[in-house]
Amino acid sequence: MRRERVMGWKGIVLAGGAGTRLHPVTLATSKQLLPIYNKPMIYYPISTLMLGGIRDILIVSTPTDLPRIRELLGDGHTIGVRFSYAEQAEPRGIAQVFLIGADFIGNDPVCLILGDNLFYGDTEFLRRTLSHKQGATVFGYPVKDPQRYGVVEIDRDGRAVTIEEKPANPRSHYAVPGLYCYDPEVVDIARGLRPSARNELEITDVNLAYLARNALRVNLLTRGMAWLDAGTPESLLEAGNFVATIEHRQGLQIGCLEEVAYRMEYIDAHQLERNAAMLGKSDYGQYLLQVLETSMV
Ligand code: TTP
Repeated sequence: MRRERVMGWKGIVLAGGAGTRLHPVTLATSKQLLPIYNKPMIYYPISTLMLGGIRDILIVSTPTDLPRIRELLGDGHTIGVRFSYAEQAEPRGIAQVFLIGADFIGNDPVCLILGDNLFYGDTEFLRRTLSHKQGATVFGYPVKDPQRYGVVEIDRDGRAVTIEEKPANPRSHYAVPGLYCYDPEVVDIARGLRPSARNELEITDVNLAYLARNALRVNLLTRGMAWLDAGTPESLLEAGNFVATIEHRQGLQIGCLEEVAYRMEYIDAHQLERNAAMLGKSDYGQYLLQVLETSMV
């Protein structure tokens, strides 16, 4: 694992939303606090940002869910990152996060990840992406049902031609996953957006604004990567089964924040030991002790 720092990048995890497709499960709890197998869903996107080298992270959620998420994650010092928190009063679209996070972003580039997205595979792609600090980078991932997503059409040179939000007749099978990297201009772009027909500030409109400026890169993720979201009962179950399958096979965990922090050298062995002690006899705590022991030999 390359541990070099990506200087200057801020991270945002958008973890609000209504979660209506998971009702009644999400009537009284946040989708992002539901388990994907053995950890809260929000661990997975946070681990992706951390593996990208990002340590300054804003968590955005609803006024009711934010206190619970803060209770879970704290200020981040035990895993060597800094968490800040901000409310999204109403779910008025993904791009609203840049208005909410404007002060946090300041003059730095920012990487946004959605709280229900899980990436698994070699995270070198993200560290490579974060070496570009101008313009925007989104990703393309082949899916069977592109009409459920933002869909990007790419020309022969790999440049974006169109991006359409949930098109009835998709022009490609490349969905745009919930991981987006922008220069600080994104705040002004978001300020200039008009709400869509569904009364949301659309992330696709942000990407179209970059496309119009000729400043949008699209990196295709290889089929060897897994990108899952967990917004429906089926996809939540599938994501849980996926994580369980890999973890059972390898004996290694996916999305274990304390392990990522240790391997990225955000924390030392003493802190990892303290973290393990806090988690007591759970399998998760035992796993952290195992990470400690095996990396000592
Ligand atoms: P969605 O799955 O599109 O929306 P949702 O979570 O409200 O669920 P449903 O469609 O079932 O009602 O959102 C994707 C992610 O983005 C999810 O992690 C929630 C987050 N989100 C916000 O935090 N605020 C928003 O305004 C929107 C639209 C999404």
